[in-house]
Amino acid sequence: MHNIRIGIIGVGNCASSLVQGINYYRHKDSEDAIGLMHWEIGGYKPCDIEVVSAFDIDKRKVGKDTAEAIFAEPNCTTVFYKDVRKIGIRVRMGKIMDGFSEHMRDYDDKYTFVLADEPEPDMGEVVRVLKESGTEILLNYLPVGSEEATRFYAECALEAGVAFVNNMPVFIASDPAWAKRFEEKNIPIIGDDIKAQLGATITHRTLTDLFKKRGVKLERTYQLNTGGNTDFLNMLNRIRLLSKKESKTEAVQSVAAKRLDDGAHEPGVAPFSGGFPQFRRYCH
Ligand SMILES: NC(=O)c1ccc[n+]([C@@H]2O[C@H](COP(=O)([O-])OP(=O)(O)OC[C@H]3O[C@@H](n4cnc5c(N)ncnc54)[C@H](O)[C@@H]3O)[C@@H](O)[C@H]2O)c1
Repeated sequence: MHNIRIGIIGVGNCASSLVQGINYYRHKDSEDAIGLMHWEIGGYKPCDIEVVSAFDIDKRKVGKDTAEAIFAEPNCTTVFYKDVRKIGIRVRMGKIMDGFSEHMRDYDDKYTFVLADEPEPDMGEVVRVLKESGTEILLNYLPVGSEEATRFYAECALEAGVAFVNNMPVFIASDPAWAKRFEEKNIPIIGDDIKAQLGATITHRTLTDLFKKRGVKLERTYQLNTGGNTDFLNMLNRIRLLSKKESKTEAVQSVAAKRLDDGAHEPGVAPFSGGFPQFRRYCH
């Protein structure tokens, strides 16, 4: 079996955790693999995953080796494995589109995206990179609200014959028209939106399920998320937040004994409690 060759769209905090994890677990065994739900799937272990392509639009990441870019600002996720080995895969300039929201210009570089001034690739260029690098699975980690950009990269995956894992809430895998296009080409598609290992949504969902099992009638429920990373800064533009709200609401509704009335479940996102200047840097 050869390695699983992945491509990354958006070398942000999630990508940093993933790449650190691949390196961290290389030195562990199944007994000592805390943090994983499954040590091995179909004969593959975490260390069998190999990053072979990566795209971003931030000038502190584009052009760098992926092993360095994952630690570049504004990434702020916990560094649990700093000796990530360089892999010679440079982060390429991506297509910006709506991946960058104008309100992100209003914040200090340390916290926000800073656009690279490299020329942006067209679809043909991205497809060429995916094919030449041997990418088999493309992981989408774009900011919430990147509707156009997500569709652009999904289209590139289709064109290149590469599987697509959509880790954020733009509806691709759950859109029957998109799902059908992947199915017709016999290309796997997974999504949409992931859950943090032990974050607010999975906790909310587990409690909702517990209430059902123990005969408790759930009439109303809400969830407040507080954060201090770019994912939350990006969501200060409330229009971008709509898909995230839908995704989180459905995650809870799907385990409720009875579907709650509209508005009875509120995944309010309070991105920076106390206002941005005093926000506490909090990362997953
Ligand atoms: N962390 C979690 O537990 C979790 C859970 C569910 C969903 N998600 C979703 O995963 C996504 C990624 O989260 P994150 O914390 O890594 O975000 P992040 O802000 O740290 O990373 C996003 C990255 O995308 C890059 N980018 C922006 N536009 C781009 C473009 N057009 N092309 C290429 N790169 C571009 C940014 O420069 C940045 O590096 C978000 O949509 C988030 O909501 C995360």
